[in-house]
Amino acid sequence: MPVTGGSWQYPGMPTAAVLNQKGGVGKTTLTLGLAAAAQRAGDPVLVVDLDPQGSAGWAMGVEADDDHLAVGDVLRSGNPKVAEAAIVTSGWGEGIDVLPASRNLIDREADGWADESLHRLRRALEPVTGRYRSVLIDCAPSLGPTTMAGMTAADGVLLVVELSVLSVRGVEAVVETVEHVGKEHHPELDILGAVVNRAPPVSAEADRQELELERILGRNTVWRPFVPQRTVVNEAVGRRAPVQDLGYRARDVIAVFDELYAHLLAVLPDPPPPPPNL
Ligand SMILES: Nc1ncnc2c1ncn2[C@@H]1O[C@H](COP(=O)(O)OP(=O)(O)OP(=O)(O)O)[C@@H](O)[C@H]1O
Ligand SMILES: [Mg+2]
Repeated sequence: MPVTGGSWQYPGMPTAAVLNQKGGVGKTTLTLGLAAAAQRAGDPVLVVDLDPQGSAGWAMGVEADDDHLAVGDVLRSGNPKVAEAAIVTSGWGEGIDVLPASRNLIDREADGWADESLHRLRRALEPVTGRYRSVLIDCAPSLGPTTMAGMTAADGVLLVVELSVLSVRGVEAVVETVEHVGKEHHPELDILGAVVNRAPPVSAEADRQELELERILGRNTVWRPFVPQRTVVNEAVGRRAPVQDLGYRARDVIAVFDELYAHLLAVLPDPPPPPPNL
């Protein structure tokens, strides 16, 4: 079965925007963990690196190259051919692809993007998305126009939070932006749920914050299992490798990301059966 470059298509946009405007909560960690789980499952996946820091692409072995097309070109053009040319196979292997970040991607808050420009990423990705079982958009710590373009390109938003009061307080602003984008640009946009990163051991404060999160997002929106704090996560990034390359020491983290990935597939659009000639 062709993984990239093939002709079979999934309908809809099995695309999740991983976001939180708070920095350092684990958006990139979750994106990488889910991409690694997709690889273990044998599923083709595309990671869209929408953060000028370019951490997701770097961790997947993609070198920043100002001469190569990148996500900024896709955002500017809205052209599927540009997206096609910009996407590269990651260092993790065949079928694990990256749309690389643009270092000069300036979130032009002050300019106020034209409404139309928010749809360009979606338009450009639509034909390409069909080749993947899922597309993961790693957003920057911002709720500016670039992140809004990421939301507009997605089927749903996956929040990453820590169970601390400051992290949970920020979720209300994220929800407001999702509602705004939903109302103005993308009526089908959903909040898929919230993934808890760096889960603390038993803690009454964490329990309180989980209840607060459910008050904001609704019941059963906080996904299980929580992602624990583990040094293997950092080691994998340092090696620019999927976490499974760390072997036995990574087994509990691998199990967590496998479950979260299964949950993601359950809430994204189903793929159709492959056409009979495959
Ligand atoms: N569960 C974890 N265990 C160990 N380290 C973690 C974990 N989650 C995140 N980290 C580390 O914390 C740092 C911040 O995480 P990450 O880059 O995923 O956050 P982010 O939300 O993407 O940040 P930014 O807002 O800057 O994009 C990284 O060095 C990452 O490796
Ligand atoms: Mg990040």
